[in-house]
Amino acid sequence: MKTIIYFFTGTGNSLKVAKDIQKDIGDTQLIRICKESTDHTITDADRIGFIFPVYYYGLPVMVKEFIEKLSIPDKAYIFSIATCGGSVGAAMKQLKQLFLEKDLEISAAFKIQMPDCYQIMYEPPPEKKQKRLFEQQEASMHEVADIIANKRNKKFYEKGKYLTKIFGGLLSKTFKPKKMDKHFWADENCNACLSCVRLCPAENIEMVNQKPVWLQQCELCLGCMQWCPQKAIQYKKGTIKRKRYHHPKIQIKELFTHGGEVNGSEKGE
Ligand SMILES: Cc1cc2nc3c(=O)[nH]c(=O)nc-3n(C[C@H](O)[C@H](O)[C@H](O)COP(=O)(O)O)c2cc1C
Repeated sequence: MKTIIYFFTGTGNSLKVAKDIQKDIGDTQLIRICKESTDHTITDADRIGFIFPVYYYGLPVMVKEFIEKLSIPDKAYIFSIATCGGSVGAAMKQLKQLFLEKDLEISAAFKIQMPDCYQIMYEPPPEKKQKRLFEQQEASMHEVADIIANKRNKKFYEKGKYLTKIFGGLLSKTFKPKKMDKHFWADENCNACLSCVRLCPAENIEMVNQKPVWLQQCELCLGCMQWCPQKAIQYKKGTIKRKRYHHPKIQIKELFTHGGEVNGSEKGE
């Protein structure tokens, strides 16, 4: 039985979930959805998963574009896991629609609440809450993996879903992340370590005169800012005093997809 999980992640939450499922069901290939993987347009796996964060009550743009291009065998068992800070809104509905357009159905869909990483608006949750969410996530994995391993059906359910679906559908239409990167800047603590360049899933950052420059192809995953070893990347002024968040059990090098040499191999770990 060949299983592939396609995952998208900024702060590592969705990767952590993907790795836990992989550990539980075994023999599973993890493929990161990023600019480099856009040539993965065909899959021959018979069990296929999509694990991704919710953005603006909808799907991240790159996830949507990736699935649109992906050709999937008719008989594949498809599952999806949305990680989010609170509500998936219209994300699952959008996903269902993408597969309907391919005459395919999602057999099982899940939501996993994780620390909210929308750091350009607010602080990450307090550590106590983070710890509780991590424990809940790990405790729920076995049941989720069991459903997936046995190819069982699992309908998606979210409390208050009608309101969030409607509101979410509207909000997600306003999500146009590409040029939102014009508000990122690097402060004097930047030491040009290249971590941001290497982990950006959209390959949207270049180092010019020892400072990162964003190229307006942003996905707004916030990985550059959240993982910066120097905490030197800011978004407007609001993030200067804010804490950073990334999943504590994921290492920055697991997100490096491309880019030049990092100054010192231990940087960012
Ligand atoms: C741009 C952006 C928009 C977000 N929008 C939502 C949202 O609408 N609803 C929600 O519950 N969480 C939202 N979040 C929080 C993330 O979905 C959540 O923290 C997720 O687990 C991050 O996963 P990752 O670490 O794999 O990127 C948002 C985060 C970002 C960066």
